[in-house]
Amino acid sequence: MKLNQIATRSISQCNHGQSVQIIDQRQLPWRVVFETLETLDQVEVAIREMWVRGAPLIGATAAYGLCFAVRHNASNASIEQACQRLLATRPTAVNLAWAVEAMRQTLLPLPEVERTAAAYAKAAAICDEDVALCQAIGQHGLTILQPLVDQIATGAHPEQNASRRLNILTHCNAGWLATVDYGTALSPVYLAHDAGWPVHVWVDETRPRNQGALLTAFELAEHGVPHTVISDNAGGLLMRRGQVDVCIVGADRVTRNGDVCNKVGTYLKALAAFDNQIPFYVALPYTTLDTSLASGEDIPIEDRSPEEVTHIQGQHADGSLQTVLLTQSSALNPAFDVTPARLITGYITERGVFSNIAAALAASQTPAPLTASAP
Ligand code: MRU
Repeated sequence: MKLNQIATRSISQCNHGQSVQIIDQRQLPWRVVFETLETLDQVEVAIREMWVRGAPLIGATAAYGLCFAVRHNASNASIEQACQRLLATRPTAVNLAWAVEAMRQTLLPLPEVERTAAAYAKAAAICDEDVALCQAIGQHGLTILQPLVDQIATGAHPEQNASRRLNILTHCNAGWLATVDYGTALSPVYLAHDAGWPVHVWVDETRPRNQGALLTAFELAEHGVPHTVISDNAGGLLMRRGQVDVCIVGADRVTRNGDVCNKVGTYLKALAAFDNQIPFYVALPYTTLDTSLASGEDIPIEDRSPEEVTHIQGQHADGSLQTVLLTQSSALNPAFDVTPARLITGYITERGVFSNIAAALAASQTPAPLTASAP
């Protein structure tokens, strides 16, 4: 997607392909700061401290972590140790484990002298594939937005609907900053906007780290997509008032029974949508599927520092970033929750839109590769 009118990926190779450039997302939207990662230590910090975040981007960054480890020492022991260190950075998004395993399986069968080149090639392929997956999710997502847009245009009172927009509610950030490019939940939104459809996004602020207010709003503004940030508690009211047409969220892990783990607060939005008969879709690439787990009950939920709840960062009038205390009480900070499959209308994947997870899983085994088209 474009950043200051320049096509930018959230992670890209630099220094003649030796290192990667990422955006320090902790500083968005106040400052766009690019950082270079060139060691496994730096990758661990960047993932754990959320310079990069979002399930697919965490996986892509971890893949490069293995490149840096192998460049330093290509032995089996070094690879296994790097895998364990990366897996320990964040527990919930399965894309991390998927990418680490893909790298491991690529590297271990090779002679040591071939491993560094193979690692960089595989990491680049993981990134390119993620772009293709997200583009395809966007195309398939359009098929659910199209009838909703048509309904507005041809509804009972078309004259009243002339200025009506399609209101899409999203939670957290599942846009290009959370992936390598395009995003999952936001990919169809970008395509719909580019096609001239009248879309408007309700952006949940997403406490405690405010990925919605800080990252999703930033992305949408950069692309010119109309949007409004709402407090996390406002969605239910808007749904009851008929101001939400559809919800689309991303996912950090989807289990065999279709349960969806995503940023904490997603479950409450799904409940409200269900109660108001509003379609609730989850957008995900196959790299977010975890067929090893029977249900969402088994997903490890990351507990992050209580300080993320007790403190908040923002921009002071003098332009400096400042952190203030919100409460002196103790706090608990589970970072994700699980939405049961029964609340989910459908899964938007790179292979199509599926109303049940069994069909999505079957389609995900389709061998045909996807390729990204030029932006
Ligand atoms: O803690 P984060 O910011 O990594 O959580 C991100 C989310 O929960 C996203 O919704 C999810 O990773 C989907 S990303 C396409």
